[in-house]
Amino acid sequence: MIRVRNLWKRFGPNMVMQGLDVDIESGETLVILGRSGVGKSVLLRHILGIDKAEKGTVEVDGVMISELKGNALFNATKNMGMLFQSAALFDSMNLETNTAFFLREHGNLETGKRFTKGEMKDLVDHALEMVGLEGQQKKMPSDLSGGMRKRAGLARLIVYRPQYLLYDEPTTGLDPITAMQINELIVKTQEELNATSIVVTHDPVSALYVGDRLALVEDGKIAYIETPEKFMEIEHETIQALKNIVMQDPRSFRSRKSGGPT
Ligand SMILES: Nc1ncnc2c1ncn2[C@@H]1O[C@H](COP(=O)(O)OP(=O)(O)O)[C@@H](O)[C@H]1O
Ligand SMILES: [Mg+2]
Repeated sequence: MIRVRNLWKRFGPNMVMQGLDVDIESGETLVILGRSGVGKSVLLRHILGIDKAEKGTVEVDGVMISELKGNALFNATKNMGMLFQSAALFDSMNLETNTAFFLREHGNLETGKRFTKGEMKDLVDHALEMVGLEGQQKKMPSDLSGGMRKRAGLARLIVYRPQYLLYDEPTTGLDPITAMQINELIVKTQEELNATSIVVTHDPVSALYVGDRLALVEDGKIAYIETPEKFMEIEHETIQALKNIVMQDPRSFRSRKSGGPT
């Protein structure tokens, strides 16, 4: 699980995190909502250890990520993957090489060994198949649509089976049909890897589709954190605005097997 405690972060005069606390339970998908510039991406960067707070801690499975640097940080965060808004593919590499990138970089997370070429090929083929890009190994990023790039970015993460997946605005800029494919993939990935996921979004349809719990960030803190049904009942301007959007949209509520996160 991820435990964030009393996180404070400023950029010059701009106080972004103001004593933020949040727990993310193992196996759950937590959605983070909030206005632009409120600090959602900054929070993800602290969880990955890329940004350092002035005060406060980030603990992942008992390891103080917030205290680590360099190699120790790299090793402690190997089991985390972040899908950046830009998908961040390497333009000069085809899909196969792009997808194999972290496999080469990280090796086998369980054994610590390097993968053989054959093992890498099988894992890459499986990951591309999972995101619906089977047979596209030789395509270059410039040959792909925005939605395909997003899916390729996701394949590059799931290929090494990280335990934690962080998504920064995964559906922003996509048309509604492609956005729904990405929502479905987030759920499918969560189920296949039994991962713990954090999804930052301002898309309420996506939030309700993927989230076990929804959180609203405001004034540098988590203002609310609730199950989707309870969250949507909260009397708050931003939440009611989100609710008005989803009320018009029948895709929003995904039927769940049972209960919430375990
Ligand atoms: N590296 C940085 N240097 C200076 N200001 C930053 C930096 N990163 C983020 N900020 C500022 O912190 C605030 C929160 O940013 P961000 O987390 O990106 O917002 P969002 O909630 O839209 O993801 C914004 O005001 C942004 O301008
Ligand atoms: Mg952001």
